[in-house]
Amino acid sequence: MKAYEIRGDDGIDGLALAERPMPEPGPGQVRVRLRASALNYRDLATIEDPLSRNLNLPLVPNSDGAGEVAALGPGVTGFELGERVAGCFFQGWTGGPITPEVMASALGGALDGVLAEQVVLDQAGLVRVPEHLSFEEAATLPCAALTAWNALVVQGRVKAGDTVLLLGTGGVSIFALQFAALHGARVIVTSSNDDKLARARELGAWQTINYRTTPEWDAAVLELTQGRGVDQVIEVGGPGTLARSIQAARVGGFIAVIGILTGVAGQINPTPIMRKSLRVQGIYVGSRAMFQAMNRAIATHRLRPVIDRSFPFEEARAAFHHLRAAGHFGKIVVRM
Ligand SMILES: NC(=O)c1ccc[n+]([C@@H]2O[C@H](COP(=O)([O-])OP(=O)(O)OC[C@H]3O[C@@H](n4cnc5c(N)ncnc54)[C@H](OP(=O)(O)O)[C@@H]3O)[C@@H](O)[C@H]2O)c1
Repeated sequence: MKAYEIRGDDGIDGLALAERPMPEPGPGQVRVRLRASALNYRDLATIEDPLSRNLNLPLVPNSDGAGEVAALGPGVTGFELGERVAGCFFQGWTGGPITPEVMASALGGALDGVLAEQVVLDQAGLVRVPEHLSFEEAATLPCAALTAWNALVVQGRVKAGDTVLLLGTGGVSIFALQFAALHGARVIVTSSNDDKLARARELGAWQTINYRTTPEWDAAVLELTQGRGVDQVIEVGGPGTLARSIQAARVGGFIAVIGILTGVAGQINPTPIMRKSLRVQGIYVGSRAMFQAMNRAIATHRLRPVIDRSFPFEEARAAFHHLRAAGHFGKIVVRM
């Protein structure tokens, strides 16, 4: 069976399509025949800089995959042959709070990922996927969707009438837009691109701001909210956006610190966080229990993930180049 491997620091074009032995499931394990794998910014960052992450190479990239149960190991009771499943980003996080052990169980990081034709995973690291979703749609759920769900719903406790600020129109932000709409919140979206902002409005965004033409987008958010600020910010920008996100939040508001799109290091001024009594919470994807709760909501509301483009397995490198170009709106998927 074929799998992509990161073998060194040659970036996207260094990804090798390798032949690996068919993995056989041990006790409590399930072999999944993958049908689609979705790309995340984190997968791209891993491919471009694997060495500083102390990963064991060669490594199969990607956390997000969906497929069918192809073989059952001894003692598996939770799944049947042919069931449609997705792997959990953290194989070891079934529920409860995150721990260091959980963090050492990430697919496409500490563990081989799912950009492969077949993988073996523990049954506790799998969930069934909503029936109305295609494999490509289901493959988008394990990282971006669950991160948005954990931030907005679990930690942020979003409710009808809240105002939520989303930065950019990448995978996490577009899922957050859909989940916020589902909970009756109103959403402000920023983007560098007016066409993407128009698409965000079609998906239910209340207001949109172009952060290129309006670099002081925090002031624009305050104006739109009559000086009050937003209840929640889904912060995917990092050092280049956090100070403005803090300005844009209301007194007593919530900031979910998720992403580092603008760089990995920066300074934080604690004064406005203290003065505004903000709750600033780091988010790291989510647990299997959160994934199952999210899937119930997705199934009930027949929510459909937004897919920008899908590529055949043989063209996975082109899919990563497409992600790097950042012209996408929603998710990029590789189909097997
Ligand atoms: N903590 C976690 O558990 C977790 C989980 C998933 C992702 N993440 C992180 O969250 C971030 C987003 O991930 P993703 O998968 O959604 O990425 P993505 O799909 O690659 O999103 C990229 C988009 O972000 C927007 N963007 C870039 N720079 C921006 C800026 N300065 N201000 C506002 N928006 C900006 C752009 O939107 P426009 O084109 O509209 O301008 C760009 O298209 C990444 O840093 C990723 O590593 C963290």
